[in-house]
Amino acid sequence: MKVNELREAFIEYFQEREHRPIPSASLVPHGDPTLLFTTAGMVQFKPYFLGLERPPAPRLTSIQRCFRTSDVEEVGDDDHLTFFEMLGNFSIGDYFKSEAISWSWEFLTDVLEIPGDRLWATVYVEDDEAYELWSAIGLPDERILRYTAEQGNWWGPPGDTGPMGPCSELHYDWGINTGCETCDVGSCHPDEGCGRFLEIWNLVFMQYELLDDGSQRDLPAANIDTGAGLERLASVLQAEKSVYMTDELKMLITQAESITGHEYDPANYETAFALRAMSEHARAFTFLVTDGVLPSNEGRGYVLRRLIRRAVYFSRKLDVHANFFAKMVATAIDISLPNNPDLHDNRQFLLDLADSEESRFRATLDRALSLLEGVLEESRATGIISGKDAFTLYDTHGLPPELTREVALSHGFQVDLTEFEVEMEEQRERSKNSSDNDQQTDVAKHYAAVGIASEFVGYADLTSSSTIRFIETASDRIELASDEISVIFDQTPFYPEGGGQISDTGTVSSERGQGLVIDVQRFGESIVHRIKVTSGHFADSDSVDCEVDPARRLNISRNHTATHLLHSALRSVLGEHVRQAGSYVGPDYLRFDYTHPQALADDELEALTEIVSSKTRANITSATLELPYEEAIERGAIAFFEDRYTADVRMVEYCDTRGHAPEHEHSDHCYSRELCGGTHLSSTGLLGDFLILSDSSIGAGLRRIEACTGDAASIELRGQLKTLRDVAHKLQTNYKDILPRIEALEGNITALESELKQHQSSSAEQLAQNLAEQAKRLGDTNLLLVETTSTQSQLREISDELQSEFDSLILVLAGTSDQSTSLLVSVSEDLISKEIDSRSLVANITDITGGGGGGRPQLAQAGIKDSSRLREAYAQVEGLLRAQLMD
Ligand code: SER
Repeated sequence: MKVNELREAFIEYFQEREHRPIPSASLVPHGDPTLLFTTAGMVQFKPYFLGLERPPAPRLTSIQRCFRTSDVEEVGDDDHLTFFEMLGNFSIGDYFKSEAISWSWEFLTDVLEIPGDRLWATVYVEDDEAYELWSAIGLPDERILRYTAEQGNWWGPPGDTGPMGPCSELHYDWGINTGCETCDVGSCHPDEGCGRFLEIWNLVFMQYELLDDGSQRDLPAANIDTGAGLERLASVLQAEKSVYMTDELKMLITQAESITGHEYDPANYETAFALRAMSEHARAFTFLVTDGVLPSNEGRGYVLRRLIRRAVYFSRKLDVHANFFAKMVATAIDISLPNNPDLHDNRQFLLDLADSEESRFRATLDRALSLLEGVLEESRATGIISGKDAFTLYDTHGLPPELTREVALSHGFQVDLTEFEVEMEEQRERSKNSSDNDQQTDVAKHYAAVGIASEFVGYADLTSSSTIRFIETASDRIELASDEISVIFDQTPFYPEGGGQISDTGTVSSERGQGLVIDVQRFGESIVHRIKVTSGHFADSDSVDCEVDPARRLNISRNHTATHLLHSALRSVLGEHVRQAGSYVGPDYLRFDYTHPQALADDELEALTEIVSSKTRANITSATLELPYEEAIERGAIAFFEDRYTADVRMVEYCDTRGHAPEHEHSDHCYSRELCGGTHLSSTGLLGDFLILSDSSIGAGLRRIEACTGDAASIELRGQLKTLRDVAHKLQTNYKDILPRIEALEGNITALESELKQHQSSSAEQLAQNLAEQAKRLGDTNLLLVETTSTQSQLREISDELQSEFDSLILVLAGTSDQSTSLLVSVSEDLISKEIDSRSLVANITDITGGGGGGRPQLAQAGIKDSSRLREAYAQVEGLLRAQLMD
């Protein structure tokens, strides 16, 4: 049976038994911080087992892609895989051991036609029930083994906490002569790991949850979680002892054979090992990347990087010195495509990534390995490779320490990984202290040395005829793509990024070349243009026509003028303490950071919008003046405190009060006057619509407004109106009546909530009646110690109900709801004279469970920290009361 037929047969078998098929979840578990990867089929169902969420159906089945890192170094032998698929059937509080056992047997022996006498079962040492069930199926006693947890018959939790339980495993027997010598005498069994047996299915009887503090509690129900390794089961069906010889993985081996020119021969162990490792890691890479993992030096990304590097290392052992990994990945994609259509869209990305990662590593691998050889030679006396050496191999040559260790071990050496960690930590510290600023400084120094002054002519003109004064191509500066150049002109209309305003873009053309200006930066006197050459080429001294993208420039200027108007409006509305703390001015929106201690009220935001809009309607003409800094400040210009100003400064002003009330006026009728090097509108009327998108806190006393203008604002406003119309439509009313309609709906909700409350209190009454029957007698007194799922207010009602039911009652009532547990203790009046006090009973309990509270002698309440210890606390209180009341 082919692997894909096996997938289909499994799902079909369990679908016939009312299991709902669930698609595989990602290899990166979502919302589960306890796990790095999805390691089993049950991972996506954890919330169902824990009773946190309702499953879509009580019986589920899946083929889950899994990734396990525990055995990476063994990948290359016959059956270890990091990536594999797990066939599973699951019961969430539905069927239990009997069905799980008989269906697994039926599927293996009837559907897959595996001879029953080849199967052995193991059960948890104390699990008589499972033992009996296997016995009833007809397995002879010598093939039902009782194993301990250490021998593998207790499964879970995956990660440090979570669901777990005893399990029963099915093993396939390859035959008495297929393992070690003891097999001949017939005394070996699956746990010996002699190669005769292959574990093919694990049936977990999920009943417990392991908690943070190491204690365990019962899961809300008894569940079934089974997992059968697809590749292993296929190897049994295809009578291939190695999973790599099953039909899908075999195609990868064939590809690896053709890449390396080495034939796969299990007898030639080293070659076979390398071919298998190359194949496995390519397939694992394909799925990890598809699920969003990218190579990096940390976490999941590091695991991925290790796999690639290990595969490259093994390819090199087979004398492959050119990139091969992408070819293997292509085969992995082809094999898996029918069941994973996502791979199609990712294909090119996967191939490119495989190739670039491999190139990076190969660039230093030869040197790393020859260094490692030297290190091995030098360490011969101690047999230990120092952490320092392992660190240099990693840091300078990219050899993962795990790989160093693997190579070292194969030569009988150890690696001092503790010292390696110390070196790593020191490097982390060092890298914290160096920053991007250093690189920036280097670039600035570079252009200072070039020392060519350029004139910015872009305030008045969006075009210019310029001459190239300096040109740099990719070969000079390594970070540039091959078709990008850096150019300095004598004069330019392109605004270089500065003062919060991003740089212009546009086109340049000469007689022999065309290009797009994609970024412009100022370094001292030089304005450097990054240009993507689209045709021909450029050379020093060429005459070039420059043209700024006019629509984009207009939108940028709209946003820049709006920040000035907004700045003044903030000072008008909130006070003169407001200072600009930073800004971003782009074509699409603006961001304005300012000092102010609290969030803006709705009417303040409204006032800001109205001021900017009214200044826009007034269509005020701008004026720009060059004048000495002191004079500008004297005239009331605002200077952004982070900018450094030269002797003569540029001042942008909008002076006109038409269209707005006098309280928003500044001296000599100038509404806005700022020192600024940016580009602005010639008159405010061009600004168009103005819309504040958000006002938020970005630190103590610092706030940020995001806003947009012009086309972006009108599109946003139209969108908002449409949403309003849609809401009105949904509420079956017109937009003016939306609020009354919502108020009416809120009224309905309140009525329903109070109905629900009534219902809950009648259920509290019901619960009280049921509980009354569980009371224990301590002499004349009744004692009730109960755990419920009631809320705090329901506990009160239950207590009132029960206290009225009994003459003499000590009630200890815990309620867990919304993941927190409350405790209520009440005692009837007659017991007060017998020195029974609710408060001390509460204290007795919280001494054990943690938490605290208080109250009166008759009634006390507390919050409970660790509800798993309630039972223990109850037992203790009962003992105390018995001693006190029965003496
Ligand atoms: N969770 C169990 C395992 O991974 C059975 O699916 O083996």
